[in-house]
Amino acid sequence: MSADFEALLSKLERRRPERLEKDSETYKIMASVFDSSTLLTLYHMINRGVFDVFYGAVSTGKEANIFCALDKRGNYVAAKIYRIATSNFKNMYRYLAGDPRFRRIQRERRRIIYSWASREFKNLQRAYEAGVAVPRPIDCEKNVLAMEFIGEEGVPYPRMKNVPPKAPRRAFERLFGAIKVLYRKAELVHADFSEYNVMLTPEPVLIDFSMATDIANPMCDELLMRDLSKLVHYFRKLGLKTSESAELFSDVKGE
Ligand SMILES: Nc1ncnc2c1ncn2[C@@H]1O[C@H](COP(=O)(O)OP(=O)(O)OP(=O)(O)O)[C@@H](O)[C@H]1O
Ligand SMILES: [Mg+2]
Repeated sequence: MSADFEALLSKLERRRPERLEKDSETYKIMASVFDSSTLLTLYHMINRGVFDVFYGAVSTGKEANIFCALDKRGNYVAAKIYRIATSNFKNMYRYLAGDPRFRRIQRERRRIIYSWASREFKNLQRAYEAGVAVPRPIDCEKNVLAMEFIGEEGVPYPRMKNVPPKAPRRAFERLFGAIKVLYRKAELVHADFSEYNVMLTPEPVLIDFSMATDIANPMCDELLMRDLSKLVHYFRKLGLKTSESAELFSDVKGE
């Protein structure tokens, strides 16, 4: 364990000693994931009160780790931490380049990862402000994003992939509505829609906005069509009769 990590632990220990176990799974993951610059970012966010204690590793994805934390006031928050060392930044660059807001980003690994996290944060803000059911964005610094925790008592709600909705028609309508409002009001296409990126509270909440792109992106029609095809495919597998994705596409675009 690095000296920096030890320092972070002792800082956290002073705050909430009963929560800390140095040999816990969470801390093993944290120690293996965080480089010193990420630790520094966490210090800043701890000082701002965004996080107080990290106590649960929720997911280890391709590019980021999600942790459950408590903020200074004792509310649950989710921390999405993009790994600097192992993220597939070339792929990220390819996606960012088509988005007019990020055309001039530097082609440098760390910067690209920061832009990636910041894009996800901005996307969440736009979606949230438009009234789409997404985790409320809280803060973002460098490669660390804080958002509302979608779960209860630190346990995340299930993903639609694992637990199909009890009322499929309602869930379908809600998700189609979310995609439509996202396009028309937030002017975004999610671009990575799937049953993996929907959590059920049991109402569907859309997550993982890292790929979401402005509708000015020349690829946006293609990406919207792909999202809608996945929506239709998932719900038809559950036995629901739905419109064709092409019809839904025209509906979203108001054509
Ligand atoms: N705000 C949140 N509250 C609670 N759990 C969350 C939250 N955001 C994400 N999760 C959990 O973490 C998982 C991964 O989140 P997300 O899809 O944003 O990350 P990712 O790095 O893209 O992961 P993957 O590579 O697996 O797609 C989700 O499937 C969900 O179970
Ligand atoms: Mg995901």
